[in-house]
Amino acid sequence: MTAQLIDGLALSKQLRTEAATRAAALTAKGKQPGLAVVLVGDNPASQVYVRNKVKACEEAGIHSRLEKYDAAMTEAELLARVDALNNDPTIHGILVQLPLPKHIDDHKVIESISPAKDVDGFHVASAGALVVGEPGFKACTPYGCMKMLESIGMKDLKGKHAVVIGRSNIVGKPMALMLLAANATVTVCHSGTADLGAMTRQADVIVAAVGKRNVLTAGMVKPGAVVIDVGMNRNDEGKLCGDVDFDGVKEVAGWITPVPGGVGPMTIAMLLVNTLESAERAAK
Ligand code: GUN
Repeated sequence: MTAQLIDGLALSKQLRTEAATRAAALTAKGKQPGLAVVLVGDNPASQVYVRNKVKACEEAGIHSRLEKYDAAMTEAELLARVDALNNDPTIHGILVQLPLPKHIDDHKVIESISPAKDVDGFHVASAGALVVGEPGFKACTPYGCMKMLESIGMKDLKGKHAVVIGRSNIVGKPMALMLLAANATVTVCHSGTADLGAMTRQADVIVAAVGKRNVLTAGMVKPGAVVIDVGMNRNDEGKLCGDVDFDGVKEVAGWITPVPGGVGPMTIAMLLVNTLESAERAAK
């Protein structure tokens, strides 16, 4: 193996310890930060995600309120719950776990969250703030990827070419904008890209966020490049794996994130960071 590992688990622990210090300072002033996590239905993956988020809050001294509802909950009932949380001064962040049951419009629900409490960074106002460079909550997964780059001395990406694979609203698009804000030259590739390898071979930084195994293989990577793997898939043996052929790419890349233990824990850490930022703003 030639690549060095970017240890998301260790970095996330450090961020969570810092978060705990900030939370304690607010709590001492009678202003404990609070996150509401809303789960509708019984999607098993969502249940795990939500449990991990609530646990991380508890460990950091952030008050968490988990609201679990039956899959039969109506859209109007959910919108009413979000409205109540928007107006609850003990709650600084609201997270509605996606996907929602089919009869509920995800977009409508996300847009009903106050942008001041949109700690997921999914609201159109948060996305727009990122486009124009205004302060706003950054989507947790790409924000975590930027922190990982920062941890290896790549905070400023001037002169670097970053290639993002994937164009989702949650990862690919905000990732490209954050890399751009850090002065990288950015290329966004997707299912319509003619020759993905020709693009990625030019990259100093590659972020793979497609949700498909082996999207990036060793022959597609420039020696020494930084490879960040956002993917979360299962291989044929049921083992967790990313979008990157880790065993092959680690022989070529300069830095690489593992799956698990890479981007995943960073996403939760950034949720805590956003919640604290919201609580600190409210306490001013
Ligand atoms: N579903 C999968 N990941 C996420 C996330 O980061 N936030 C929300 N709200 N739902 C998700």
